[in-house]
Amino acid sequence: MMISLPKRPLLRRWCLLTTRLLPLVVCALPFGALMATDSPAPPTQLSDSTIQLRLETFARLDASLYQRSPKVKRLVDETAAVLANDSRLLVLIKHFGLNDQSEALLALARSHAEDSDGDEAIRLLLKLNPEAVQGLAGADSSTLLRLLARNGSGAALDVVIPALLSGKTDDQNQARIVEAICRKKTGAQRLLQGLDESKDPLKKKISEVAIRVLEQTPWNELLTRFRAFGPETPATKNPSLADIQQLLQKEGNADEGRKIFQSATGSCINCHVAEGVGRDLGPNLSEIGKKLGKDALYDAILNPTAGISFDYEGWNLTLNSGDEHTGIIVSRTENSISLKNLLGQVIEVTPSEVFELQKMTTSLMPSGLGQLLGEKPLVDLVAYLSSLGTSSTEPQP
Ligand code: HEC
Repeated sequence: MMISLPKRPLLRRWCLLTTRLLPLVVCALPFGALMATDSPAPPTQLSDSTIQLRLETFARLDASLYQRSPKVKRLVDETAAVLANDSRLLVLIKHFGLNDQSEALLALARSHAEDSDGDEAIRLLLKLNPEAVQGLAGADSSTLLRLLARNGSGAALDVVIPALLSGKTDDQNQARIVEAICRKKTGAQRLLQGLDESKDPLKKKISEVAIRVLEQTPWNELLTRFRAFGPETPATKNPSLADIQQLLQKEGNADEGRKIFQSATGSCINCHVAEGVGRDLGPNLSEIGKKLGKDALYDAILNPTAGISFDYEGWNLTLNSGDEHTGIIVSRTENSISLKNLLGQVIEVTPSEVFELQKMTTSLMPSGLGQLLGEKPLVDLVAYLSSLGTSSTEPQP
């Protein structure tokens, strides 16, 4: 629908003027209105719309005004006080680099431990007030330690690993902390160093969790070193699995195999798509039954490093910031490198951010998966894979 403008020239000009000018006036309004509030209401009485208006206005202000203008500082501080325990505070702290908000950040981290606001709170805390983090090691703060573990930066690990190794965390948090640490290679490496000197029962418990995580990563040598501390695993008990000839004699159940393919233990769908399910870091397996026979399928699962195809070589990328990523390179030009990590996220960086880019000598696909699953599930899995792309793929009732 068109809006027709009045035909009389004067009126028409006035209309044009207002339609063009009005947006400008509206934009300028919040700032003007805000700066005019000379004596603001006591903090607890700020209405939600006032807070929202202020936040929008602050977002447009130059951050240095916080230092330069006492008025801005007062308004920001006042709004921050009202927002205690509201995650909108994070935006404010980040924008103005407020470094006196440790308590509020710790509270937000605790109350948002299960979502990304908790991670952001910890990130800001480590950046703006790292000393506040040091004290957490001794305190009863398993939740915060878990967030620090997830953060994974050097400063965070400095606090988490000693706390973990002193046995202060309860069992459930302990497992989650170890899991989070081991998702990053430096984390797993530093945990391993610490474990060397720690006590036996704890060593075993921590290693058990670390092994479970590392079995799904390509960091085989770290896995082997944790295994030396940990309990006996199927991998050390089941060496005959490598005997493919013997496996080929067994009849598998493709429906059971599908369940394993799609299960968390199998972890196949972390990197492969089949029948429209999964993430495509490795090759799409929707038609793999046409391409590979059962013997080659066993070989691909049990010895992934034997034949890595060019498109799927793994790379370790270390940035100057200390961040590490493992995955495949999806594009590389003079000005940018894009790497798809093990979580399927694409990380794009410029060459100047790169500290080291190293091609892995092993496959990205973990080598212990066959052993991890055990014989019967492995036979079912291969039965499923070999049905893919052939006429028997139709799901059976
Ligand atoms: C961490 C990622 C990852 C996981 C987990 C993973 N794979 Fe792979 N897989 C790859 C990559 C990358 C390749 C290609 C490079 C290579 O062959 O080593 C591959 C190759 C394969 C191939 C050969 C495909 C071809 O076209 O030649 C098969 C078959 C396979 N995977 C099956 C599985 C199964 C079954 C599972 C679960 C038990 C699994 N993969 C788990 C990453 C993974």
